[in-house]
Order: sequence, then C-alpha cells, then structure tokens
Amino acid sequence: VSGWDPRAVIAAKRDGRVLAAEDLERFVGAVATGEVGDGPAAAFLMAAFLRGLDASETLAMTRAMIASGETVSFPGLTVPTVDKHSTGGVADGVTLALAPLAAAMGLAVAKLSGRGLGHTGGTLDKLESIPGLRTDLTTQEIERQVEAVGCAVAAQSSAVVPADGVLYALRDATATVPSVPLIAASVMSKKLAVATDLILLDVKAGSGAFMKTTEDAVALAEACLTLARGARRPCGVAVTDMSQPLGDAIGNALDVAEAVHLLGGRHRGRLRALVVFLAARAAEHLGGESFESATALAERALDDGTALERFGAMVAAQGGDRRVVDDPASVLPSAPIVRPITATTAGTLAAVDAEMLGVASGALGAGRVRKGDPIDPAVGLVLEAKIGDALDPSLVVGTIHARTEDDADGALLRVRSALTITGASVDPPPLVQAWLAPEGE
Ligand code: URA
Repeated sequence: VSGWDPRAVIAAKRDGRVLAAEDLERFVGAVATGEVGDGPAAAFLMAAFLRGLDASETLAMTRAMIASGETVSFPGLTVPTVDKHSTGGVADGVTLALAPLAAAMGLAVAKLSGRGLGHTGGTLDKLESIPGLRTDLTTQEIERQVEAVGCAVAAQSSAVVPADGVLYALRDATATVPSVPLIAASVMSKKLAVATDLILLDVKAGSGAFMKTTEDAVALAEACLTLARGARRPCGVAVTDMSQPLGDAIGNALDVAEAVHLLGGRHRGRLRALVVFLAARAAEHLGGESFESATALAERALDDGTALERFGAMVAAQGGDRRVVDDPASVLPSAPIVRPITATTAGTLAAVDAEMLGVASGALGAGRVRKGDPIDPAVGLVLEAKIGDALDPSLVVGTIHARTEDDADGALLRVRSALTITGASVDPPPLVQAWLAPEGE
C-alpha cells in the first residue's frame, strides 16, 4: 500500500501534536473498517485521552465517524422533529416521558436510542420490558409513526456510525471513556448522522455521570455545541445534576412504571422537573412559544392525561401492550423478592454515590457489563430519598427487586454504602446547572 503509516498518527498524538484533519479522518476511517486493528486503535485512544483533541481535531474525528456508515433522514415527515440524548446517568428515564410529552404538546420526536452499558441504563432496554414492544423500526416505520402518533423511540441501526461501536468497545476496555472530546465525538456523531430539526442534549454532572464535576460537564456541553455549530445544526444543551439518581427507579420495568406515573401526573420530583424543562425548551425553539407558556403547557399535558395517552399510542404503534398505561403492574414483569430499603442511622441524606447504585442495580441483573449481555427486565431498585431528606432507620425509603434473597442482601449493602448521612442540614443540589441555548436564542 501507499506510504501512509498509522503509527505516525499515534506518535504525533503521543507527543502532544495537533493532528491534521485528513490524518485523523483517515485513521478513524481505517479503524472502522478494521484496516487499523484494535491494538493501534487503543493506543491512539489513550494518547487522545491523555493529550486531548482540540476543537478542529474533534470535528474531524466526528466527521470521520459519521462517514464510516449510513446517515438517516426522514424525507416523508411534514413536521419538525426533535431528537434528544443524554450522556448517560442513573435513574435517567427522561426519554420515556419526554417523547410522549413533547408529542402531546404538538411537537414531533424521532428518537434513536442505544442500550445501557456499565452503570448507566439504556432507553431501549427499559422500553423492551413492555411485552411485545419492538424497537427495531425501519426509517419508513419511524416516519409513519411520528406522523400518526407524534413520537417514536427506536434502536439506532448499527449501520449508522459503525465507527462508534468499535471505538466505544475499545474505550470501555481501556479506561478511556471519560474524555471530553471522545464523548463529544461519540455522542454528536450519532446525533448528526440523523437529520432532525433540533438536537437536545442532556449532559450529566456528578457521581452517577462520566463527568463528575459541573466544570467538566460544561466543557463537554461546549464541545458538543461546537460540533453542532460545525455541522450547522441547531442544538440546545442542558447540564444537569447527576450527583444522585434523577428519578427513583433504577432498572428497566421499574423505570417504565415510573414513567407511567409521571406521564399521568402522579410523580412530582426532579425527574418530572427535568422532563418539563426539556419539553419546554423544545417547544420554545420549534413551536415559537415563550419558555414560560411552554412550561405551563407541559405541566398541563402531564396533569390532564394527554401525555399518558400519547405514551399508550406510542407503545401500541410499536407492538407493545397498551394496558401498561392503565395498570403497569399487570403488564410488566416483576421480581419475586421485594426488599424494603432503610437507612442504618438517622440524619440528613448529604450525598449519594449514584454510580454505586447503578452498579448495585446492574449486579441484580438490570444492566450489562459487556455489549450483548442479556438483562433481566424485572429487577432493580427504587430509592425515593433525595439529598436533603431526613432519614431514619424506621423509615422505608425504597425497595430492592431481586431474583434471590442473596442478591437482595448484596444490593442492600451496596445501597447503604452509597448513602452518606450527616447530622447537619443539607440543601438539595440545583437540577439544571446550565442551559446553552440553540444559536439565535
Ligand atoms: N454516551 C455515548 O454515546 N458515548 C460516550 O462516549 C459516552 C456516553
């Protein structure tokens, strides 16, 4: 072959040099096809992790990742669409509720999702706990469903950004996931490969997120926004709290049950607040509403049943059992052992190791360690206590849903060790820490 040597690219990054766009594009393209193997690809990822990639390098990498596969557009759609993505969190059931809520507000959501990996859950896994529900929709099926129902949540085809599949697995295996440019390129390549009218990003910050501090999360938010600008795509980014689980449920069927409660106006916590915030931001951009009136519209759609009705229509359109909206417990799988969670001491909940809770739920069978592992939809945990709440050993603050008594014992130990309880009073952390509006707003 020609004189191109991938080792020169690795060496340049190893030594902290800025790579030319064409070298990066060629390298990433060759990783995607297998021409450059896992060894050199992993060495490159570690060099990029340690030395960083600047904005132009991150854009070149993102472009090369998109070019590695197919892109998706919805030429048949007559309505403007929004796509939403989270960088990954614990009890992050936002999409399950946001898609039908936005549909109830007259917006259209075409959401292509991934599966859970590590301690973070995946929307597809949660949705598939509804018996019969399919997520492998074709582009035409998504178009028809979005026109008819207002929303579809489907699996992103592996033919879209195949480079991310290869790179993500290598990053997972080489401890190079939590890098701002690598996450930005991974997330945005998948969003930019799908032609929608607005990208909404939820960048998580805290103990349950890849970015542990607000400062790092804001840097990730800005990197994502810079990529959207480079591709001339409207994108709004929220940086939100993941210093504790967002909702209460950490599992799969448990999250669906929580979404049903939320969509029916019966859940009033931080998960609802964030779902309302994001729906209102989407309506502000796509529907020309003021943020205040869009917020009121979103609150109303949750409280008057229209958002729940849209969820039922979406579930039915994807082949799932619509009765899940009336009586989730009769439709969703449930675990044989349900163990109450109590604290070991009295005091105020000061801090939560959300990643540890994600790991606890994963150990019960709700998550996967390796891509392709099976998951158990019925198991997981529900923790109602939030930072600032008063705890007492006599108070039940949640439940563990397990296959065996041993599993429940292990989960209870993990949950208790994830909770820091103090004698002092503690203020709850702010939910939305920053909002980077789409260009022009
Ligand atoms: N989510 C992604 O899609 N990619 C990452 O790298 C991290 C979170």
